[in-house]
Amino acid sequence: MSQPRILVIDDEKFITWSLKQHLEKEGYEVTTADSAEQGMEFFKTENPGILILDINLPGMSGLDMLETIRAINKEVIVIMITAHGDIETAVSAMKLGIFDFVEKPFDLNRISVLIKKSLETINLKREVTYLRGEQYDKYSFDNIIGISKPMTDMISLAKKVAESDANTVLIQGESGTGKNLIARAIHYYSARASKPFVEVTATAIPETLIESELFGYEKGAFTDAKTAKSGLFELASEGTIYLDEIGDIKPATQAKLLRVIEDKTFKRIGGLKDIHVNLRIIAATNVDLEHAVKEGNFRMDLFYRLKVIPILIPPLRDRKQDVIPLALHYMKVFNKEFKKNVKSISPEAEKLLISYPWYGNARELKNVIERICILENTDIIYPEHIPIEIVDSIEKPVAAQKMSTISIPPEGISLKNVERDLIAQAIEIVEGNQTRAARLLGISRDALRYKMQKFGLM
Ligand SMILES: Nc1ncnc2c1ncn2[C@@H]1O[C@H](COP(=O)(O)OP(=O)(O)OP(=O)(O)O)[C@@H](O)[C@H]1O
Ligand SMILES: [Mg+2]
Repeated sequence: MSQPRILVIDDEKFITWSLKQHLEKEGYEVTTADSAEQGMEFFKTENPGILILDINLPGMSGLDMLETIRAINKEVIVIMITAHGDIETAVSAMKLGIFDFVEKPFDLNRISVLIKKSLETINLKREVTYLRGEQYDKYSFDNIIGISKPMTDMISLAKKVAESDANTVLIQGESGTGKNLIARAIHYYSARASKPFVEVTATAIPETLIESELFGYEKGAFTDAKTAKSGLFELASEGTIYLDEIGDIKPATQAKLLRVIEDKTFKRIGGLKDIHVNLRIIAATNVDLEHAVKEGNFRMDLFYRLKVIPILIPPLRDRKQDVIPLALHYMKVFNKEFKKNVKSISPEAEKLLISYPWYGNARELKNVIERICILENTDIIYPEHIPIEIVDSIEKPVAAQKMSTISIPPEGISLKNVERDLIAQAIEIVEGNQTRAARLLGISRDALRYKMQKFGLM
């Protein structure tokens, strides 16, 4: 930031003179005025960033002047000069939003320190406002692409939820369908937007630490607890906590979560006191919770608590209308990022993209477009630019590439079991390397991962 201009208004010429000398030596541009009237004139014409103002001016009191100035400009930093012991006026001035005050007689260095401090505060404030603005843009609903009916319905539901008081939301969808994206959009669209958004991926935190991470602990709760620590639920207070992969948390933690959701209270580990939090909980999962409940892996009561407001994001292959809009959106994004100029997608290439089942959903499509933007120097995306696995899996289904050697026994066979077996075999042959297993099976890695998850082979 360039040095702001400083305006000094004081009727004591010695003060204005010495401040000017001192501050100019420090590299500031300084204008001085010795009356309220002249001061106001300079204030309007010079647009100073910092004002050093004597509170006792003849003609107009410094306080009145401060009020007038605030009406014109709320940003200017004001440092007041007060008479010794005039605390009362100084306090009134503080209420009018001055940065600080100094008593006469003052040390010039003290003024320098105050100016530096005020500039730091201002820069910090600007940074926070800027970052906040950036977050709002980045996570706005405008960046969620979807023209299909299920998507537009889902988005309008999510907006309604964001504006409501609903404090528990469950987002369900396959991997890559945009659960994180929706959760953030809900937060930044809601009245909680200026408060924290805390993301917790339960599966990324070791089982032994999960409780202390979520709920915090009191000093002495266990050997390493040298000081008390607040948990993520406390940090998210007033805002939103996003519990990702909720389907994978262990029963003990499920029970604790249930209590937080029901009562909005919890205790720190080793703590006696109930801590009450006001927050919105958004849980997300790509496992079928209903199924998990049936299998006894997920608490039924927690499931019902969570699914009061369910948001379901359908897989991309069930809303093919969204494929091209998504591709074009990411084309723009990556053109900008990699300084490329891909302009459009040819009809044949569009057909390929639309037919492909996108088991990795929007994430997989986004990655494909990114790869094309990086690697290809072309105006138009043609089929030859589309990764070979995609083209192959559409044009030459596996069976056509090689005749099947499996013959159906007279009593029939379970196709599901065969698929599961073949996938398990492929993984074993390549010792768990998913890319190679996918190649063996003639499918994409995302498709393989999808199927592995479906068959519980992860
Ligand atoms: N509708 C959409 N519009 C634009 N981008 C999308 C959309 N859906 C997903 N994406 C993008 O796809 C990627 C994956 O999205 P996200 O991480 O939200 O998926 P997820 O459902 O949380 O996946 P996972 O279950 O693997 O965590 C992100 O880069 C996201 O920006
Ligand atoms: Mg996610």
